[in-house]
Amino acid sequence: MTETVRWGIVGPGRIADSVAPDFAHVPGAELVAVASRSAERAETFARRHGIGTVHTGYQAILDDPGVDVLYIATPHPQHRAISLAALAAGKAIMVEKSFTVSSVATREIAAAARDHGVFAMEAMWTRFFPAIVRLRELIAAGAIGEVRTVQADLGVRNRTGPDDRFLSPELGGGALFDLGVYVVSFAQMLLGSPSVVAASGALAPTGVDLEESIVLGWPDGRSAALQVSLQCAMPGAARVIGTDGWIEVPPRFHHPDRIVLHAHGADPEEIVLPATGAGYAHEIDEVTRRVAAGETESPVMPLADTVAVQDVMAAVADRIGMIPEEGPARL
Ligand SMILES: NC(=O)c1ccc[n+]([C@@H]2O[C@H](COP(=O)([O-])OP(=O)(O)OC[C@H]3O[C@@H](n4cnc5c(N)ncnc54)[C@H](OP(=O)(O)O)[C@@H]3O)[C@@H](O)[C@H]2O)c1
Repeated sequence: MTETVRWGIVGPGRIADSVAPDFAHVPGAELVAVASRSAERAETFARRHGIGTVHTGYQAILDDPGVDVLYIATPHPQHRAISLAALAAGKAIMVEKSFTVSSVATREIAAAARDHGVFAMEAMWTRFFPAIVRLRELIAAGAIGEVRTVQADLGVRNRTGPDDRFLSPELGGGALFDLGVYVVSFAQMLLGSPSVVAASGALAPTGVDLEESIVLGWPDGRSAALQVSLQCAMPGAARVIGTDGWIEVPPRFHHPDRIVLHAHGADPEEIVLPATGAGYAHEIDEVTRRVAAGETESPVMPLADTVAVQDVMAAVADRIGMIPEEGPARL
């Protein structure tokens, strides 16, 4: 491997378009290639972002010796085939959230990463924001005592057409895998894996979920109350409540530029910590440094946490009667 970590994008859609400019903010990272199922889409994307190498079809980027890491930005059910093929080809991967739409596929990818000794991480960008890093430091230092409960909501008033991936079962549509993953991952980061998962929600005529409330429970009484919606706008706020105070993450909590510490008996303290670029630079930086160091996981977003979050989402889907449609295992 060269000193520069060379990145390629797979699936140049909406999120890839937002993430691509952030590579410029990361020392040691270079965005060198893009792969699309369509030559025209790959070329247009490459021109827009100044990317040198264009691949038509995903296999071509797996065969490119000039690429070290793939940023996989296809819809979630389509993460499985490209992730497994990439790991088998020795390419490190950063996979958009939701990692997959099933516990089976997520475990399969995690096992493949370990078997091949290749780096893999879910692109849960929230965990790498400076404000969230500080939140975790404050909690570890006892600033709010023992964390007992987490509250978070995230909703958008989605008005896209029936053909959009948000409503499509084959493309992993629904609130859970697009928005629920954020609130569940936030609670899992702070409280670990729950022993109780309760949920109530509504499905769209296509069978994907439109909204739900989720309650998570732990054997010692700790809990989380989470709400997501694809039909109602919600503030997108989070609170972490402890025995000695609470920390507020103002909207939108999944890409915050500040937190507010409410320590018991003290005035609220606002801590402003802006993100770099559009906020994706932090996760790109994490992967770049870990891959350059020859590591195979991120301790901030380990595969065990991704599996734990996926298991909670599977339980939520079960409670509300949604049957996720996982994608194929092979390209
Ligand atoms: N981190 C964040 O803030 C954030 C925000 C939004 C979405 N996401 C995640 O990013 C992923 C992609 O979301 P998006 O909104 O960017 O989706 P999108 O605009 O539909 O783009 C997805 C791309 O994947 C490729 N693709 C491969 N197989 C496909 C298939 N069967 N159907 C449709 N497209 C397919 C397409 O590119 P080609 O055909 O050109 O190869 C398409 O442009 C999802 O997992 C989503 O949850 C993350």
